[in-house]
Amino acid sequence: MNRIILIGYMGAGKTTLGKILARELNLEFIDLDCYIENRFHQSVSQLFATRGEEGFRKIERNMLFEVAEFENVVISAGGGTPCFFDNMEYMNKQGLTIYLKATPETLRTHLRMGKQKRPLIAEKNDTELDAFIRESLDKREPFYCQAQQIFDTGLLDNGIRIQEVAQSLIELIKSKV
Ligand code: S3P
Repeated sequence: MNRIILIGYMGAGKTTLGKILARELNLEFIDLDCYIENRFHQSVSQLFATRGEEGFRKIERNMLFEVAEFENVVISAGGGTPCFFDNMEYMNKQGLTIYLKATPETLRTHLRMGKQKRPLIAEKNDTELDAFIRESLDKREPFYCQAQQIFDTGLLDNGIRIQEVAQSLIELIKSKV
């Protein structure tokens, strides 16, 4: 399999793990958000502000259809990508989809530091962030769980180094291809 697509909630580690995977498997790494920002010369936040979420989702879908045609890539999708249109079905056709599953507590810890560039949560205080994660994760999980593989990133919470977590993810991938 020469196309791996990582999905999961914001802050689950798609970009961090994706970069390691790509390096170890000798594939190119593509972060869908970065790809969109480069193509449109605007940040995701600016796109949300100028076109609304609906406009962003259309762009996201179009750009997904570009990157998921590339060969020899690890693609990190946006947290919302699987939950709109028939994106999840499409990704499942195009590559090996892996859901990086994390608990709301882990996501909250990661997102408290990284919320500024994420328009859906940028303005939320800790209590609002917590409620938002729980509520939207509940709605999104049925989409995420359509991935071909589910990988629990909980190891990271138990102090296991990211390199080791990436290694077990690589073993999972190798057993599937
Ligand atoms: C979003 C996740 C973000 C980005 C946008 C919307 C979402 O990507 O696409 O802010 O709806 O969950 P990351 O998951 O890479 O943060």
